[in-house]
Amino acid sequence: MYQSQTMVALQVGFALLFLLSTYNYFGVEAEFMVCDSTAFQQMKIEMGSLRFCDKNLPYEVRAKDLIDRMTLEEKVAQLGDKAMGVQRLNLPGYEWWSEALHGVSDVGPGTRFNQTVPAATSFPTVILTTSSFNETLWKTIGEVVSDEARAMYNLGLAGLTFWSPTINVARDPRWGRITETPGEDPFVVGSYAVNYVRGLQDVKGFEISRTPNSRPLKVGACCKHFAAYDVDNWKGTDRYHFDAQVTARDMIETFIEPFRMCVKDGDVASVMCSYNRVNGIPVCADPELLNGTIRQHWNLNGYIVADCDSVEVMVNGHKFLNDTPVEAVGQALNAGMDLDCGKYYPNYATSAVKQGKVKESEIDESLKNLFIVLMRLGWFDGSPGGYSGLGKNDVCSPAHLELSAEAARQGIVLLKNDKNTLPLIIGTGKPKFAVVGPHANASVAMIGNYALKSGVACHYSIPIDEIAENGDVVYAAGCQNVKCPNSDGIGQAVQVSKQADATFIFVGLDLSIEAESLDRNDLNFPGFQKSLITQISEAATKPVIVVIFSAGGIDISFLQQDPKVQAIVWAGYPGAEGGRAIADVIFGKYNPAGRLPITWYPASYVNQLPMTSMPLRPIPESNYPGRTYKFYNGSTIYPFGYGLSYTTFKYAIRSTTNPVMLNLGQFQQCKPLQFLDGRKTDCPAILVDETHCTQLVMVKAMVTNTGKSDGPLVVFVYSVPPSGIVGTPIKRLVGFKRVFVAAGTSQVVLFKLNACRDFNIVTDDAYELLPSGQHTIIVGNGDDAVSTQITIGFNHN
Ligand SMILES: *[C@@H]1O[C@H](CO)[C@@H](O)[C@H](O)[C@H]1NC(C)=O
Ligand SMILES: *[C@@H]1O[C@H](CO)[C@@H](O)[C@H](O)[C@H]1NC(C)=O
Ligand SMILES: *[C@@H]1O[C@H](CO)[C@@H](O)[C@H](O)[C@H]1NC(C)=O
Ligand SMILES: *[C@@H]1O[C@H](CO)[C@@H](O)[C@H](O)[C@H]1NC(C)=O
Ligand SMILES: *[C@@H]1O[C@H](CO)[C@@H](O)[C@H](O)[C@H]1NC(C)=O
Repeated sequence: MYQSQTMVALQVGFALLFLLSTYNYFGVEAEFMVCDSTAFQQMKIEMGSLRFCDKNLPYEVRAKDLIDRMTLEEKVAQLGDKAMGVQRLNLPGYEWWSEALHGVSDVGPGTRFNQTVPAATSFPTVILTTSSFNETLWKTIGEVVSDEARAMYNLGLAGLTFWSPTINVARDPRWGRITETPGEDPFVVGSYAVNYVRGLQDVKGFEISRTPNSRPLKVGACCKHFAAYDVDNWKGTDRYHFDAQVTARDMIETFIEPFRMCVKDGDVASVMCSYNRVNGIPVCADPELLNGTIRQHWNLNGYIVADCDSVEVMVNGHKFLNDTPVEAVGQALNAGMDLDCGKYYPNYATSAVKQGKVKESEIDESLKNLFIVLMRLGWFDGSPGGYSGLGKNDVCSPAHLELSAEAARQGIVLLKNDKNTLPLIIGTGKPKFAVVGPHANASVAMIGNYALKSGVACHYSIPIDEIAENGDVVYAAGCQNVKCPNSDGIGQAVQVSKQADATFIFVGLDLSIEAESLDRNDLNFPGFQKSLITQISEAATKPVIVVIFSAGGIDISFLQQDPKVQAIVWAGYPGAEGGRAIADVIFGKYNPAGRLPITWYPASYVNQLPMTSMPLRPIPESNYPGRTYKFYNGSTIYPFGYGLSYTTFKYAIRSTTNPVMLNLGQFQQCKPLQFLDGRKTDCPAILVDETHCTQLVMVKAMVTNTGKSDGPLVVFVYSVPPSGIVGTPIKRLVGFKRVFVAAGTSQVVLFKLNACRDFNIVTDDAYELLPSGQHTIIVGNGDDAVSTQITIGFNHN
């Protein structure tokens, strides 16, 4: 979401309004609860007479009772992110909009910092944390972020509903918001979502429940932006006008798959609909996608919220059906969008009911979804899970800052390391390092977006300072800033470098190049950054190490080929503790194991397809290259999953379940498949939805650390469908695990796959079929990968 000038003005207006009234968003004390008998006593109301405060009743019944007490106007006043409350029912206002993408942030108006809590722990941006491929880490970060969120809520500084994480698949390398995402693979994106959401939301002991709508929540998370949203502003097309043309197959297989996982496996409390249209219809007004898919099919236990001002965007951006605001509000409510981030619902929903555009009962449904979430959060009866003791000392604690550094260490990707230059060990005596480049002295740039608005972090660990811990440092920025508009500083950087035992060049991108509302046009280093690096390397006689900050990939082929640039490290945007994480990797305190969660394409790739084209598969007739490692078979700078270590590993497959035989139901039919050579086979496939598929496919992979140092390793498992079927992916990730392997030892890593889930294909009419025949399982990535075949067959009854 994005705050426009008008929205800021509106918020200031609101803030004033609320300071003057008896209720304000932040004026709630630690132990606030709606159902407070003392408060009702003062209002001369017997709380026992209020069914919505009866703890023995299910939340649904309580919510209905509360809603039934409200007038239409009172109901409508609860439908914006700034819910106004109903004083006569002791229901205060509530600001729904807070953010916690990689740490509690004050980007949403529901959260703010002051001298009591001046900042929250800033973790690396999601693209780097994803690169760790460590599910435990992802979940642990969620737990720590929600501890800080609860602490800030107790202090009156935050809400309980956080509109994070961003789980759009990074479809195009130019997209400005890749930094917020877990990369290009829908399974990885979904796995990240599930872990982060569970970390944020789960109250210990209540991870599962037979009545999910009564499951307590630590905080409410939100998976966004649903769906096929990933053009921000590219060559005149922006997200407020973009109409994504998406095939049914790409929708199921790629764009909504992470959302399905987030809702079904993460049990998220909210989904946000996006600004864009999909095949002509604004997502926030699409009953099939919202009510149909999210609510009915996936059984969301929570609410659907608009990206901020989406309904206004329907009217003024998309000019959808030439709607009036009242009509647009009616459509969004009818589609199943419960909450508006903005003013359209509060301003126009009463008229929409009165003009017959929507039934009041639809508003009741939406309010029920909203109030149940607030009940699960303890807003009515007090905090669940004993969080009321969390306070100031639980924000930015040393342990939390250490976890932030740890996330960066685990995510950092070693891209090149000729002659084992890293870890850097320079003879005897105190070495002299040249530290150059526009990011050498980075602070705010490390925390990316959806971070701390003022840029004030709990603490910054700055690259140059951390390198100075390991030697004498001479510094020259070389460029004024990341855009590096001229070559003025390069000469000095070259001079400084010539006198050093080693040179570190910190280069890359920042929010002036890739950001919300700002997509890239090319995949090169901005301005004169390339000259800075090449001039230093030409003059160099000592090791040159390049450290890159970026979210999207950069065409660094000139560096790959440059023998004097001996090592390259990608550090994403590493968070406020980034400097020491980078130093730990460079100087060998940590053995890097991060892997790229996106393909790094050559610069020419972007000339082969517009950013607005959605198809994932190649279209040979028009030289359309396809997208992501699953479908793009051209050359890359680095493939998805790439990353080096200071040690070496060897893979072997010890055993797999083979063959895998599935029993067909009595009336189950075989399904046809389209083969490249037109062949017809006996029972080529079955429909996954019709198949009882509980048996596991066990894959035992053995990894051996064949090098001299201990280290972590990410083990990837891919499946490949039988050859010759039209339109299948090249390969598809079905499992990954990060394990630690001591030097000279081996470890068996077990993957439990499921035939229907992990070996299916999606047909062009969006059916999930399981093909019979020889499937391939690949363990590992790149040259050292190993593979085996398994046969999937069907028993007919
Ligand atoms: C920060 O805000 C909270 C909530 O309004 C308040 O209780 C606290 O006193 C404020 N701290 C300072 C130093 O003003
Ligand atoms: C959603 O769909 C269900 C089932 O078709 C229907 O009963 C319900 O009224 C719909 N909700 C909305 C908000 O239209
Ligand atoms: C690094 O930047 C900060 C401002 O962010 C500045 O105060 C400091 O002097 C800079 N350090 C160097 C070595 O130039
Ligand atoms: C890549 O795919 C295209 C189109 O599907 C095909 O023509 C080409 O041979 C493939 N190239 C490689 C290297 O496999
Ligand atoms: C995964 O992350 C957790 C939490 O930081 C950490 O304790 C563990 O060592 C990590 N696993 C590996 C293999 O790096």
